[in-house]
Amino acid sequence: MASVTSTWTEPSDSPLTLLLLGRGTDPASERGVDCPGDLPAPSDPDLVARATAAKAALGSRVFVLGHHYQRDEVIQFADVTGDSFKLAQQAAARPDAEFIVFCGVHFMAESADILTTPAQRVILPDLAAGCSMADMAVLGQVETAWEHFEDLGIAGDIVPVTYMNSSADIKGFVGRNKGVVCTSSNANRALTWSFEQGSKVFFLPDQHLGRNTAVLEMGFDLDDCVLYDPHKPNGGLTGEQLRNARMILWRGHCSVHGRFTLDSVREVRERVPGVNVLVHPECRHDVVRAADYVGSTEYIIKALDAAPAGSAWAVGTELNLVRRLALAHPDKQIMFLDRTVCYCSTMNRIDLPHLVWALEELVAGRVPNVISVDEKTAHEARVALDQMLALP
Ligand code: 13P
Ligand code: SF4
Repeated sequence: MASVTSTWTEPSDSPLTLLLLGRGTDPASERGVDCPGDLPAPSDPDLVARATAAKAALGSRVFVLGHHYQRDEVIQFADVTGDSFKLAQQAAARPDAEFIVFCGVHFMAESADILTTPAQRVILPDLAAGCSMADMAVLGQVETAWEHFEDLGIAGDIVPVTYMNSSADIKGFVGRNKGVVCTSSNANRALTWSFEQGSKVFFLPDQHLGRNTAVLEMGFDLDDCVLYDPHKPNGGLTGEQLRNARMILWRGHCSVHGRFTLDSVREVRERVPGVNVLVHPECRHDVVRAADYVGSTEYIIKALDAAPAGSAWAVGTELNLVRRLALAHPDKQIMFLDRTVCYCSTMNRIDLPHLVWALEELVAGRVPNVISVDEKTAHEARVALDQMLALP
């Protein structure tokens, strides 16, 4: 890790820090369950040495993927780091690794399982690492919505698009209805392709990514978008609203990026003259509109790498990544867009004790926390994932 003479100041604590999502809930849910393992104590001074030894013992049998929002203590053991698109590509490109240890969240591990060979096993070091956004779209709700579109006679005009941040069965739904998966790196390309296939898009589950891409990148009006609320009859929309809409946005959002507000942007612009505001497209529309730059985590990293020394940046994405970037670039003033802590509590579930436990289990010949998608779902989801990987 780079010099600690950085300009980084830790945001103040928040009552929302590290809320644990769904401990002990349905194992089929994105929210996961408690870890069954006999974990080493977080205070064990040998954790780094144990992870290093276990990884060395496994050699090329194991490949460790790390999402950019993971903790530093975990990222140091990743063979590849990336955003969800890059990690999906990397999982697909490693047919020789017997075990893919996925340091990320459940939907990413499911996608890795779908994209790897049947002989490979994907391991999520803590099954409680789910995603609150993915949990906002449940298959039964999505099928109810689609049946309503069929009753209205508009389903044939609609191409379903799901953000990578969704469960495998939602990806399967999209695959069997001739749609596509997208990530924050390729949402524009996925929507462009979709509007060549049909006149409307049904975008799941992140309303903000859908709206921001359609309006700010593709020239649609806000009036072209409607919000389908799965908790209201018929989504809370009239038949006329659905017939007129071009983008039918599912009412889902990221509980981390959804916390940045227009006030945070105004406040930082007043406090730091000349600051560049750089945000992830999962942020709310008014925040993205007020920002100077918008892009996926991979884009954010590249933008800060390329920024001139002395420039100031307020970054609206997960705190582990922003802190790592600030420490890696002490010559630039990199700060968190919000005044309070904004970790993804479920990404943070993967810590060094869980990683050590998972790797040592593999060394001992046991395969823990395997993420396995059933064959039919995997086949249908793969159609939508392959369509994404083949986007022009
Ligand atoms: P990307 O990795 O696609 O930038 O998405 C961010 C995110 O929220 C992952 O959960
Ligand atoms: Fe889900 Fe948001 Fe966390 Fe990503 S950052 S895993 S979208 S809750």
